[in-house]
Amino acid sequence: MLAALTLLATASLTAAWNTTAGCNSAGFDLDSSGKINRTLPSGRQYLLHVPSDYDASTGHPAVLSFHGAGGTSANQEKLSQLSTPGLRIAGLPIIAAYPQGADNTDQNRTGVWYSAPYANTSVDDIQFTKDVVADISDNYCIDPRRIYASGKSNGGGFTAYMACRQDTTRIFAAFAPVSPALYNGTLAFSGCDPARPIPIITSHGVEDQTIPFDGRNDSSGAYGVGTATINVPLWREQWAVRNGCPETSNGSDPSPTDVTSPYVNTTEYVWSCDAEIQAYTVSNLGHSWPTTQGLDSSGAPNNTASFNFTDPPLVDFFSKQTLPDWCFED
Ligand SMILES: *[C@@H]1O[C@H](CO)[C@@H](O)[C@H](O)[C@H]1NC(C)=O
Ligand SMILES: *[C@@H]1O[C@H](CO)[C@@H](O)[C@H](O)[C@H]1NC(C)=O
Ligand SMILES: *[C@@H]1O[C@H](CO)[C@@H](O)[C@H](O)[C@H]1NC(C)=O
Ligand SMILES: *[C@@H]1O[C@H](CO)[C@@H](O)[C@H](O)[C@H]1NC(C)=O
Ligand SMILES: *[C@@H]1O[C@H](CO)[C@@H](O)[C@H](O)[C@H]1NC(C)=O
Ligand SMILES: *[C@@H]1O[C@H](CO)[C@@H](O)[C@H](O)[C@H]1NC(C)=O
Ligand SMILES: *[C@@H]1O[C@H](CO)[C@@H](O)[C@H](O)[C@H]1NC(C)=O
Ligand SMILES: *[C@@H]1O[C@H](CO)[C@@H](O)[C@H](O)[C@H]1NC(C)=O
Ligand SMILES: *[C@@H]1O[C@H](CO)[C@@H](O)[C@H](O)[C@H]1NC(C)=O
Ligand SMILES: *[C@@H]1O[C@H](CO)[C@@H](O)[C@H](O)[C@H]1NC(C)=O
Repeated sequence: MLAALTLLATASLTAAWNTTAGCNSAGFDLDSSGKINRTLPSGRQYLLHVPSDYDASTGHPAVLSFHGAGGTSANQEKLSQLSTPGLRIAGLPIIAAYPQGADNTDQNRTGVWYSAPYANTSVDDIQFTKDVVADISDNYCIDPRRIYASGKSNGGGFTAYMACRQDTTRIFAAFAPVSPALYNGTLAFSGCDPARPIPIITSHGVEDQTIPFDGRNDSSGAYGVGTATINVPLWREQWAVRNGCPETSNGSDPSPTDVTSPYVNTTEYVWSCDAEIQAYTVSNLGHSWPTTQGLDSSGAPNNTASFNFTDPPLVDFFSKQTLPDWCFED
């Protein structure tokens, strides 16, 4: 009995997702805008959006989007634009899920995630994430090679943390941390151990006052003990090294393989090696997910960018990325 249970558990983490379990299912009882708040057996909750042109006989891409500390699923849906009608990855309508972070009453925090010194460590955010993927896959027709993780701020740090783990890099095909909170000493920076080269698209405002572009040494100031954050360009370069870009002969980190200015006040750095890092540096933008409408209001002095990060950059990047077949083997 124990052996059978163990087998079942293993299968549900890997091979079971290469099935059509949720295809041709009735799905959930959605509201008129295609949404439902799901509560899992663990008590954890997420907001799901199913587009009106979802086809139950086709494997769709799915994107999880994690809010920042103090945030909510509903606000993450708004600022990320991932429920926008007509949005496509690889030509297919996207199923979007917005998980809700746990509170940490000890630190007077709501809606927090692992990878931060203020995380609620008595909940299991990794298991919750796996449960969300399973809940969607069991009830909707999902392409298991096209499940993606994204997030903002603490949710971006959590996304970056999942890009560093053996298990989650065999679930998500690619990662999109936006203005990620990269706390010193967390796996988002040190001890990173992904199962493969990892495709990452990321964006950071140069005027970010919450998670400064150049990092923050102060570990005990306004943001609390342990909230030193690392230098963002250095974090990007270290990913390029992890993805097999050659270090220079003098030992410095690799230069980007391509530098362009696709939008006003925006520089795009690409390191294209065993997997691609695509990084936006946005001048005149604060701690915001880039949108032309300033949908992310945490970006003082400026919430507004000259482009929408989700469409086209994120959807075009994810369209190019699929999980390798070996990730489905036990
Ligand atoms: C989900 O829950 C939030 C918070 O209670 C609420 O504002 C929202 O209307 C709910 N959405 C749906 C689709 O039920
Ligand atoms: C962590 O989250 C759980 C589940 O919501 C809750 O029961 C617990 O009180 C939280 N811990 C703290 C320190 O807030
Ligand atoms: C808890 O946080 C809220 C909102 O950030 C703040 O208004 C309040 O003063 C804080 N309470 C304590 C005891 O720090
Ligand atoms: C943090 O300290 C290191 C080592 O002294 C220094 O190189 C770096 O520039 C500092 N970063 C910031 C943002 O002050
Ligand atoms: C970052 O963490 C390392 C290792 O724990 C430590 O040596 C270093 O002082 C920390 N830097 C900051 C700015 O807190
Ligand atoms: C190391 O070499 C690269 C080119 O290969 C150069 O751009 C960089 O400035 C050099 N760094 C130092 C510290 O000499
Ligand atoms: C670019 O950023 C500068 C400040 O860095 C700002 O004054 C200017 O309005 C921005 N340009 C456009 C076209 O958005
Ligand atoms: C914010 O940035 C946008 C895009 O670069 C620019 O058009 C706008 O003028 C800026 N607003 C402020 C208040 O700086
Ligand atoms: C950004 O998204 C908004 C809302 O969907 C849309 O109205 C706007 O045209 C988009 N901006 C660009 C430059 O595509
Ligand atoms: C999934 O299963 C199909 C059929 O068994 C197989 O052809 C494919 O290689 C597997 N892997 C993926 C990632 O689809």
